[in-house]
Amino acid sequence: MRLLKWAFPLFPLISALPQITRQGKYLFDPSGNRFFIKGVAYQPQGTLATDSASNEANGGFPEPSSFIDPLSSAQNCTRDLPYLKQLGVNAVRVYSVNSSLNHDDCMKMFDDAGIYVLLDVSLPLNGSIDRSSPSWSTNLLNEYTTTINAFLKYDNILAFNIGNEVINLVSNTNAAPYVKAAARDIKAYLRGLGSSVLIGYSAVDGDADFRNTLAEYMSCGDDSISVDIYGLNNYEWCGNETITSSNWNTITSGFSSLPVVTYMSEYGCIFNPPRLWTEVTALFASPVSDVFSGGMAFSYFPTSDGYGMVTIDGNSVTTSDDFTRLSAQYNNTKPPTSITKSSAPAVTTISCPSENSTLLASSTLPPTPDEAVCDCLNANAFACLVKQSSANSPTIVGALIDYTCSLLGANGGSCDPIGGNGSSGMYGSLSMCSPAIKLSYAMSAYYGTNPVSTSCDFAGNATLSPHPPNTAQDASTAAQSCLAQQPSGGVYTISASSSVPTGSTTASGSGSSSTPSSSSGSSSSSAIRSSGTGWTVLFGLTGVLLGVVLGVRM
Ligand SMILES: *[C@@H]1O[C@H](CO)[C@@H](O)[C@H](O)[C@H]1NC(C)=O
Ligand SMILES: *[C@@H]1O[C@H](CO)[C@@H](O)[C@H](O)[C@H]1NC(C)=O
Ligand SMILES: *[C@@H]1O[C@H](CO)[C@@H](O)[C@H](O)[C@H]1NC(C)=O
Ligand SMILES: *[C@@H]1O[C@H](CO)[C@@H](O)[C@H](O)[C@H]1NC(C)=O
Ligand SMILES: *[C@@H]1O[C@H](CO)[C@@H](O)[C@H](O)[C@H]1NC(C)=O
Ligand SMILES: *[C@@H]1O[C@H](CO)[C@@H](O)[C@H](O)[C@H]1NC(C)=O
Ligand SMILES: *[C@@H]1O[C@H](CO)[C@@H](O)[C@H](O)[C@H]1NC(C)=O
Ligand SMILES: *[C@@H]1O[C@H](CO)[C@@H](O)[C@H](O)[C@H]1NC(C)=O
Repeated sequence: MRLLKWAFPLFPLISALPQITRQGKYLFDPSGNRFFIKGVAYQPQGTLATDSASNEANGGFPEPSSFIDPLSSAQNCTRDLPYLKQLGVNAVRVYSVNSSLNHDDCMKMFDDAGIYVLLDVSLPLNGSIDRSSPSWSTNLLNEYTTTINAFLKYDNILAFNIGNEVINLVSNTNAAPYVKAAARDIKAYLRGLGSSVLIGYSAVDGDADFRNTLAEYMSCGDDSISVDIYGLNNYEWCGNETITSSNWNTITSGFSSLPVVTYMSEYGCIFNPPRLWTEVTALFASPVSDVFSGGMAFSYFPTSDGYGMVTIDGNSVTTSDDFTRLSAQYNNTKPPTSITKSSAPAVTTISCPSENSTLLASSTLPPTPDEAVCDCLNANAFACLVKQSSANSPTIVGALIDYTCSLLGANGGSCDPIGGNGSSGMYGSLSMCSPAIKLSYAMSAYYGTNPVSTSCDFAGNATLSPHPPNTAQDASTAAQSCLAQQPSGGVYTISASSSVPTGSTTASGSGSSSTPSSSSGSSSSSAIRSSGTGWTVLFGLTGVLLGVVLGVRM
């Protein structure tokens, strides 16, 4: 059921690709046959971040600091389409798009050619959950829903990916509750619109314990919180490997009890060249095909580290031997037809793994980001606000959050209300707010320790609120009434209208460079994490304390 199609009947429905649906751990086409992804990554490499920490390749996709939207140029899609057809793909994976551009031509061209699009909705830098200082916040929610709004009208959207390799080490599995909350809220948003497009996550590979435990965490629980489709970025099959030497047999058995669709969201090791792509045969045959539903070969476009299969000069494309070998493999593939929708195993769920030393993730997820509550706090409970010009720079906001929180800490205050802890499952009331509103909280709390105008300057980055609360008591009362707007439990379905960005003063970025890709995060915003301990005086020395009101949700 895809209601939006009727709302935006851009193309004759006759040319539309049928929607692929999920039943349990498999994908099916409308005739009830299993659908296997024969795909390729279709994302030109953006400008790479200049710091080496964020350039650590892991699976071959260095961290970009800017991106090119590959679905925005009809000319380029026209140029590439014959080669995608030659490759024999039925899907492409696109990592970053700009929702304000027009994608009609590329999407229609691919649709006509039988090519589905699996779209990542996060963006480089401040457009994704930051593994080193994670939060699931209004600015990200708005970005994701805006992208989804721009793409839901196309028939050939296979899935929206909520994140790529956000969690890349055991030590940042504490980011997993935020990613899962994002999947929960975006899934509810889609279902609320009558769309059954799948919600996915793509994981970095790791040792078996890390790989399996995270996959269980993301796919556990009932349908409202589990992802529909779980991708593994896997580069273990190199050159002439076998199913045993590549670990694909252990990987397959490790994923065999997952109740959701799994696939290789990136594959194609370049070590031991040439790439023979013999893993394609394994991918589309039992036992791997009993668990996995195909994969996305990496990568159509050239990358600086050698994963590309074509080279491009303006409007001309030159293919490599890699390309020809993959094309031959995809052409020869006949995925098994033994399982059909009616003969498929019963749909199951699994219970969520308990927290342990390989999974520092609570099963208590953070609340649904609520922009109205954040805006209300910003307008009524804060005395000192970050200036809009500064709020426009994610770097300045990040630096000022770190600075202000340490200043506040040294003055007996705390940034706990804007932090959260995915391990303990405790989330500050403002953990869901945009970085700018978090900063205004911290600035207001600091101002409250010494309410003179010089306390609200921050080298010209802050200004007193036009309507500041007069006393700490007023601030608390205002905060309490803002928070009371939140539905009990904090989890609810965002409606289409409430997700549209309002252009209010809340838009801003996270200060730390977060990553949709493959390296370790670099932020040091440890100051904004919750300590989980008691609350301290935040707004002067008298009255009910704002910090108490804005404490953590458990
Ligand atoms: C999206 O494209 C618009 C129009 O070209 C541009 O102004 C904006 O900066 C782009 N956004 C991103 C996130 O790249
Ligand atoms: C790779 O495997 C194929 C098929 O088994 C074999 O013919 C070929 O000699 C092997 N190549 C190398 C370099 O081992
Ligand atoms: C289109 O292709 C040209 C040539 O490779 C490239 O410079 C440009 O960035 C591409 N634009 C988009 C939107 O893909
Ligand atoms: C695979 O099939 C496509 C479409 O039929 C064709 O254009 C391409 O040349 C084939 N590739 C190989 C390596 O035979
Ligand atoms: C942590 O829990 C998971 C899931 O229950 C389990 O697979 C894994 O082995 C456990 N790790 C340790 C170190 O006990
Ligand atoms: C704002 O804060 C940033 C980061 O601390 C600083 O570089 C800048 O000079 C401050 N003032 C203004 C007006 O941006
Ligand atoms: C990232 O920062 C840019 C520039 O400040 C801003 O326009 C954009 O809304 C931010 N994105 C998110 C998701 O916060
Ligand atoms: C988060 O909670 C865990 C588990 O309760 C605790 O061990 C850890 O120290 C907390 N992290 C921070 C930064 O407070």
